[in-house]
Amino acid sequence: MSSAVASESGAEKAFYLTTPIYYVNDAPHIGHAYTTTAGDVLTRWHRQRGEKVWFLTGVDEHGTKVQRAADAGGVTPQQWVDNLVENEWLPVLQTVDAANDDFIRTTEPRHAERVQRFWEQVREHGFVYSAPYEGPYCVGCEEFKFAADLAPGTGEYEGQQICPVHGRPCEQLQEENWFFQLSAFTERLIAHYEANPEAIQPRSAYNEVMSFIRGGLADISMSRSSVSWGIPVPWEPSQVIYVWFDALLNYATAVGYGTDPSSPEGEQYANTWPADVHLVGKDILRFHAVYWPAMLMAAGAPLPRKVFAHGWLLVGGEKMSKSKLTGIAPSQIIDHFGSDAFRYYFLRAIAFGQDGSFSWEDMSARYTSELANGLGNLASRATAMVGRYCEGILPAATADGEAERALQELLVSTAANADAAMVALDFSTGITAVKEFIEAVNGYVTEQEPWVLAKDPANRARLETVLYTICESLRAVAVLYNPLMPKKMQE
Ligand code: ME8
Ligand code: MG
Repeated sequence: MSSAVASESGAEKAFYLTTPIYYVNDAPHIGHAYTTTAGDVLTRWHRQRGEKVWFLTGVDEHGTKVQRAADAGGVTPQQWVDNLVENEWLPVLQTVDAANDDFIRTTEPRHAERVQRFWEQVREHGFVYSAPYEGPYCVGCEEFKFAADLAPGTGEYEGQQICPVHGRPCEQLQEENWFFQLSAFTERLIAHYEANPEAIQPRSAYNEVMSFIRGGLADISMSRSSVSWGIPVPWEPSQVIYVWFDALLNYATAVGYGTDPSSPEGEQYANTWPADVHLVGKDILRFHAVYWPAMLMAAGAPLPRKVFAHGWLLVGGEKMSKSKLTGIAPSQIIDHFGSDAFRYYFLRAIAFGQDGSFSWEDMSARYTSELANGLGNLASRATAMVGRYCEGILPAATADGEAERALQELLVSTAANADAAMVALDFSTGITAVKEFIEAVNGYVTEQEPWVLAKDPANRARLETVLYTICESLRAVAVLYNPLMPKKMQE
């Protein structure tokens, strides 16, 4: 089943998946946990297929937003991020049960050095120049905005233009900056995406990016002169690298970009880059599908294979966010339902790629009907019957009939359908396939009535066959659900 590919060094290339690196201006909420969980389920799935896998997540520590949060908290930016990383961002990985292989912080020397090397390279290739910038900047997005990005404000912002993501007006910036010559890559990006339409998913995201690129790309600031919390521009250290042009590079720096090819880090780069999937929320699609590949083209590095933009968790119809204080901490849900149910719920209830709302009622209802009644009940009935009728020892199946063969066939197609859906990041369809198999097994139990078979010793072979079939089906379910609910499935 493995789709392993050999890299240039001859070693197997890892299936490499990344999440965004999250801003540490505040603690994580379930929107961040959603992306990390999806990445964790997908990488566990690929690992279980026998592939070599590398799963990276981390934090974005620089920029105005973090600097201001630290100022407001009365500490240095470094103290601010150290505290939040240690007490919030690392622990939340345990809370959601993520098995990431690495965690990058953009304040680490390995990152800063390689970012500087990258921009030196892009400058040597002639894609960096100095010019004044004047225009709107959204600190929430950490983004230089175009007029077309803004929307008319209402209420307290009546008559002003606002950022539609953060619901607030932008700040007007006027700076002397270094520019990245993004415009030079318009045609190459169009050609790349026409040749590789699967490189941006879902389709709606592909269409949005293509129309943005076809509108023509303008050059963009790659440095900030009025910000001090960042990585110094190597050729003009009084300026820092624009936070996004530092952050995006984490995907490459974390796996050894810019290191000696014969060093262990260099070998890791050869066996890991390019990324197979950059998992992001749709809020940051343009950075990942336009600016990032253009940066890589400018440096002469290979492009990621796929950017998948998922939808937003909404609160009252709006994106759940740190800045609007609408975030629910993952532990609020997980303390009550456990990490497995959390992972199950978000990937099952929301079609990946679309927006969705969390509600306690829906979570509770699915927990009861799909997990407790559907799967939990089947497992406890099966173990109870094996205990009662077979002294707790799983019998062999010696009298397979039509019903057993039908279930075996259904299992084969379930595994194939689930695999196809999961590797396509259609988690909900993959989970539904397994859930339908569980329903079929429950139907089989009802039809076969093992408790009736147990009354007559003449039915012993059938009873044992039925109990074996139920338990074997449960074993298969435990394997198929293991990437999704590792704790319960191990149990
Ligand atoms: O954008 N629904 O960091 P960030 C779903 N540092 N996902 C959500 C969400 C919601 N309501 N809220 C957040 C940044 N997310 C940059 C990224 S990458 C080189 C730099 C998730 O803290 C989703 O993955 O604002 C979204 O894209 C990400 O968190 C943004 O996190
Ligand atoms: Mg954000």
